Amino acid sequence: MTSHPIAVFDSGLGGLTVLSALRERLPQEDFFYFADTRFLPYGDRPEAFLRDRGVLIARALVRRGAKALVIACNTATAAAAEAIRAAVDLPVVALEPGVKPAVALTRSGVIGVLATTRTLESERFQRLVGNHANQHRVIAQACPGLAEAIEAEGPDSPRVASLLDTFVAPLAAAAADVVVLGCTHYPWVAAAIAQRMPVGTTLLDTGEPVARQLERLLAAGSLLGGGEGRMTVATSGAPATVIATVDRLFGHKLNIEHWEP
Ligand code: DGL
Repeated sequence: MTSHPIAVFDSGLGGLTVLSALRERLPQEDFFYFADTRFLPYGDRPEAFLRDRGVLIARALVRRGAKALVIACNTATAAAAEAIRAAVDLPVVALEPGVKPAVALTRSGVIGVLATTRTLESERFQRLVGNHANQHRVIAQACPGLAEAIEAEGPDSPRVASLLDTFVAPLAAAAADVVVLGCTHYPWVAAAIAQRMPVGTTLLDTGEPVARQLERLLAAGSLLGGGEGRMTVATSGAPATVIATVDRLFGHKLNIEHWEP
């Protein structure tokens, strides 16, 4: 089992920002990355749809031989993490907006969170804020259309710039000194977000803590190591389109296969 790959999934390519942190920390693992591009964006879909889709994907990844699963999507975690954990018998790492580390870092007591509508409306997010940030002012800003625009038009496109103008302004106006990137697509535009905030604002993403958590779970299950650093990328959408998007985001062409969970 140790030689089996670790499965990572997201609605699209946002989870690649998490995957690079995982590969950096765990170079002796093989990874299977699944972008559910056919259903991007997850952020505006009903919770029940995301729960069922998440469970279906997780079960299919187990059948494909995954030894562990990383839900590299805040939106899928908010809607489906509990159902996925109940449905499959393997270590599952789910990521959520970094509200806890933001509380430890803020000096102004004002924390900005950028995430999808579905994530911010979820019970899980309400609980996270209630349990950890009730002494703080949390500006939770939904960013409808942003993940989609990053993939479709590129992080430097005029459309992304105009969405960021709208979504980041309330955080700057409230003098947030920590901004939580609560969607795995947003590290692609971290520099553009920082530019719209006062100098010295801290931006938080969750790639590194997720990698540490995965390492702990693999070690606890005697599943660590055994791979060769291989990476397979698959999409439920059209591989040619996704290859072009990766090329725009990274400047190189990945081999991407079609996979239907
Ligand atoms: N990347 C996903 C997240 O972390 C969601 C993007 C979307 O499909 O709306 O929330």
